[in-house]
Amino acid sequence: MNISLIGVPMNYGCDREGAQYGPEKLREKKIVEVIKKYNHSIYDFGNLYVPKVSEEEKYAFHKKMKYLKPIVEVNTNLAHNVYSALAAGNFPFVIGGDHSLGLGSIAGASKFYDNLAVVWIDAHGDINTHETSPSGNVHGMPLAAAMGVGCPSLTDVYYKGIKVKPQNVFIIGARDLDEGEIQLAKEKNLNLYTMDDIKTIGVNAMVEEITRKLKENNVEAVHMSFDLDALDSEIVPGTGTPVRDGMTMDEVKYVFKHLMDTQLVKSMDLVELNTHLDQDDVTAEVAIELVDWAFQLIA
Ligand code: ARG
Ligand code: MN
Ligand code: MN
Ligand code: MN
Repeated sequence: MNISLIGVPMNYGCDREGAQYGPEKLREKKIVEVIKKYNHSIYDFGNLYVPKVSEEEKYAFHKKMKYLKPIVEVNTNLAHNVYSALAAGNFPFVIGGDHSLGLGSIAGASKFYDNLAVVWIDAHGDINTHETSPSGNVHGMPLAAAMGVGCPSLTDVYYKGIKVKPQNVFIIGARDLDEGEIQLAKEKNLNLYTMDDIKTIGVNAMVEEITRKLKENNVEAVHMSFDLDALDSEIVPGTGTPVRDGMTMDEVKYVFKHLMDTQLVKSMDLVELNTHLDQDDVTAEVAIELVDWAFQLIA
C-alpha cells in the first residue's frame, strides 16, 4: 500500500500545551521506519501549517468555541490533503495533534467516498456542539459536526453538508460522555459501544456486530479515528484527557485486527499524544506499538 503520512501539529482543539508535538515525537520514535517494515511505501508529507494565534485571541472568533478560525483553516487544508491522497490511491494516515483534526480527515474521506463509515475509538464521544460543550474545546465536537450537528462553521468544513450518516457512526470505548452527548447519541441512534457495553457483550460480539452493520449498510469505506485516551489511563499518561477503566492493548489490537480484516479501512487518524504529559515516552511507545500492529494488517 502507498501510505501518505500527514502531520497535524495542532493543540488549539484541546487548549493544552504538549499536544502539538505529537507528530514530531512519533517521527523521532521511527513511525516511518516501522510502517516501512511491512512492504508499504510511505510518503511523509510533513506537517500542515498551523497559524499562530495568541491566548488572548482564544475567543475572538466565537464566544463558545476556542480558536475556531485556525482550527477551521487547518482542517480545510487537511481535508483536501486527505481527499487528494485517496484520489491518488493512497492511504492517508493522519497523526496529531488533538482530535479536532477529525473534522478535516472525515471531510476529506467523505468527499471521496459516497457511503463512508467512521469508527471512532475513544474514551469520549466528541459529539458535543458549542451549545453542549462544557469546555469550549473543539476536540470534543468533531464527530457531531461530521454528522451535520452544530455550528455551520464546523459542519461546513471543506464542503457544505453531512459528511457521515449517523447510522454509519460507530463509537468504541466511551466512558466519559457529557449530558448533551448522551442525548445526541440517543436522538441519532448512534452505534455507541461504551466500556460497560464492551464488558457486557465482550469485544468479539461487538466487533461482529459492527462488521455486520458495515455490510448491511453497504459501507464503501471506513475511516478509523483512534484517540489514544481510549486506552486505560494507566497505559497512556501522555494524553490530555485520560479516563480510567479503559481499553486494554489486547482489546484495541483485536478491534484493529478485525476492522482491517474487512478491507474497508481506507484512512486513519492517531491523535491526542501529549508529549509534555508523557512519562519517559511510554505513551509515544504505546502509539508506535499500535501503529506497528495496524500497518502489519493492511494489505
Ligand atoms: N467531553 C469533553 C469536552 O467536550 C472532553 C473531550 C475530549 N476529547 C478528546 N478528543 N480527547 O471538552
Ligand atoms: Mn477524541
Ligand atoms: Mn478522547
Ligand atoms: Mn484502570
